[in-house]
Amino acid sequence: MSDGSAAELNEIERLDKDHVLGTWSYQSEVSPTQIVDGDGVRFTDADGNEFIDFSGQLMCSNLGHSASRVSEAIAEQAADVPYVAPNYTTEARARLGEKLAEVTPGNLSKTFFSTSGTEAIEAAIKIAKFYTGKDKVVSRYRSYHGATYGSISVTGDPRRLAAEPGMPGAIKAPDPYAYGSTMDPMESLEYIDEMLMLEGDTVAAVLVEPVVGSNGILVPPEEYLPRLKEIAHDHGALLICDEVMAGFGRTGEWFGSDVFGVTPDIMTMAKGLTGAYQPLGATVVTDEIAAHFEDEMLTHGHTYAGHAVACAAGVAAIETYQEENLIERASETGEYLEARLADLADAHPSVGDTRGVGLFRGIELTKHPEKRVPFGERADKLAKGSTVVDEVAAAAGEHGTYVANMINTLIIAPPLTITEAEIDEAIDALDAALEVSDDAMVA
Ligand SMILES: Cc1ncc(COP(=O)(O)O)c(C=O)c1O
Repeated sequence: MSDGSAAELNEIERLDKDHVLGTWSYQSEVSPTQIVDGDGVRFTDADGNEFIDFSGQLMCSNLGHSASRVSEAIAEQAADVPYVAPNYTTEARARLGEKLAEVTPGNLSKTFFSTSGTEAIEAAIKIAKFYTGKDKVVSRYRSYHGATYGSISVTGDPRRLAAEPGMPGAIKAPDPYAYGSTMDPMESLEYIDEMLMLEGDTVAAVLVEPVVGSNGILVPPEEYLPRLKEIAHDHGALLICDEVMAGFGRTGEWFGSDVFGVTPDIMTMAKGLTGAYQPLGATVVTDEIAAHFEDEMLTHGHTYAGHAVACAAGVAAIETYQEENLIERASETGEYLEARLADLADAHPSVGDTRGVGLFRGIELTKHPEKRVPFGERADKLAKGSTVVDEVAAAAGEHGTYVANMINTLIIAPPLTITEAEIDEAIDALDAALEVSDDAMVA
């Protein structure tokens, strides 16, 4: 993989660097690596280097890189009719709506389709405000919900700072972060109860990732999410669960909410919805919320709402999860992954914590295990240069494994099709890469 020096870029990488603005970055530091092929859990760069995709790209390639049922459905739909205006329908859109009603819990039954997780959140915020007639949204500090004005305002991670003050009424609460917060997870929950009481009857929704993704793979205690729903409802607010990253088998259940037996009022999803074969977002609401819009206008929409090709990919993706038993499989393989991460923790003093559920796991690094001092701080997310955590991820790449990271945590979210042997290969690469953080520990 390219080490980032400009001289090494091939023609395509150079064209890309010269003419494409990179996401969330100082453009001088952008150094794209051209990917030319993907097969199963592996992908290959233009120099022929092969990588195990231990993070499913941006925690979205849940079906791996050669799910032929999905690519064939895309080709067929594109050949039949690629796009119709949202006031028409297609079999793909109607069937996907039906499928989502089937796989989501409880009485979640009707979907607004968009093209990304960000848009799914925007729709959820507006729907919650329209339905409740209230304006505020309580979300948490260690969260990511999207890049646009509303969704970045309800995001808690440092990426929101450049957009502040942001949307009025976006209020932040503490997180269930047992390893790194001064507040106990259940204490943080009761704090939210207090917040809602103090806000009076003005909060439209409490918005959470049931299992926090890019902000560190935070799994709350079992009783957290049911109690959060109770707290929200006690104060006349809805519970929105953002399943953009946790959804579609990642946790070993269809949705992160299922891990805790909770049906939220609104669920947002994207990423695994098509296994990342097409850009598609979805905001699913309960019967009651759907009924509200029978005679109240849903003042929201996009040209590409319910895009036929994207919906065809969604149907084929869900059929693939179902027919290949990928959800159950993720739960089983997830246990193996958990054990292998524990081996890494035993072998490497710089591993402070390993945590997660199913095939959604994190390795949090530390330069001082007793004091739990992180290598990467929140401010680093906005700073130039790289951290030790970035260097560990780069070293894993040198050993043939791609792993994403954010702030202080390596994020492990491979395709659900990964085998134990492939996990072993990736663990070997991490075992070698973690020497970098071991060597950087304080004496
Ligand atoms: C939990 C969560 N919500 C929303 C988003 C935004 O999704 P997108 O990048 O598709 O707009 C993300 C993206 O990583 C996410 O992880």
